[in-house]
Amino acid sequence: MLRSARRVTVLTGAGVSAASGVPTFRGTGGLWKSFRPEELATSEAFARDPALVWEWYDWRRQTIAACRPNRAHEVLASWTDRFAGYVLITQNVDGLHERAGLAPVRLHGSIWELACWDGCGVSAWRNEDVPLPVRPPRCPECGGLARPGVVWFGEGLDPRVVARATQSTACDVFITAGTSSIVYPAAGLVHDAHRRGAFTVEINPDATPASAIVDARLQDGAETVLDVLDRLL
Ligand code: OAD
Repeated sequence: MLRSARRVTVLTGAGVSAASGVPTFRGTGGLWKSFRPEELATSEAFARDPALVWEWYDWRRQTIAACRPNRAHEVLASWTDRFAGYVLITQNVDGLHERAGLAPVRLHGSIWELACWDGCGVSAWRNEDVPLPVRPPRCPECGGLARPGVVWFGEGLDPRVVARATQSTACDVFITAGTSSIVYPAAGLVHDAHRRGAFTVEINPDATPASAIVDARLQDGAETVLDVLDRLL
């Protein structure tokens, strides 16, 4: 299918970065101090205890900074030269796709961007300080609290980004890789692709809610499966 495909879309989740050493949100090693992501990645959690939420993000930023892109990121970056219509969409905020050389459609923002929590109007800014010298960090414009530039549970995604991702489900092959397929709207993309007639593939060592509807399941790590697929191509 990939050999004859012109339009290929890939959606990635935390599992694609697992082999780099970035902890996933769910499953083995997915918890930080026994908090589930839904307990920390919300505006309510931040309003209640910004120091705790920033401690978690500062820890994740330090972990990610010590990681390098793996073979999955490399193959997915190189496919932009292989297919006429190639779109890489990610739920990951770690920046590893970018570091492998291809900027994806980012559904959930970036852990390397900060925004003003008080909404003073300043645009999000890049911050790669690891560890953060001042925690919680401050808005350079108004001095209020800064927040991570990521989308939290209960928050809407940028409609332009969602539109771009949805458009790309009109494709020949749609691959969902390294995601538990439970967080929407990202989890809906493989269903859209399926409805629109794409050949759908899941790359994940474990079963997910998407497993039942995909045309093919490749049950191994993304770094292994994508390496094999690329070599076969
Ligand atoms: P999850 O942590 O929910 O799921 C990771 C998935 O990767 C699981 O299904 C694992 O089986 C799989 N996996 C583990 N190792 C793998 C490997 N080497 N290769 C391939 N797959 C592997 O992560 P996401 O689905 O990305 O949102 O989570 C979705 C969203 O929920 C995240 O973007 C984040 C989170 O809370 C926000 O922060 C808004």
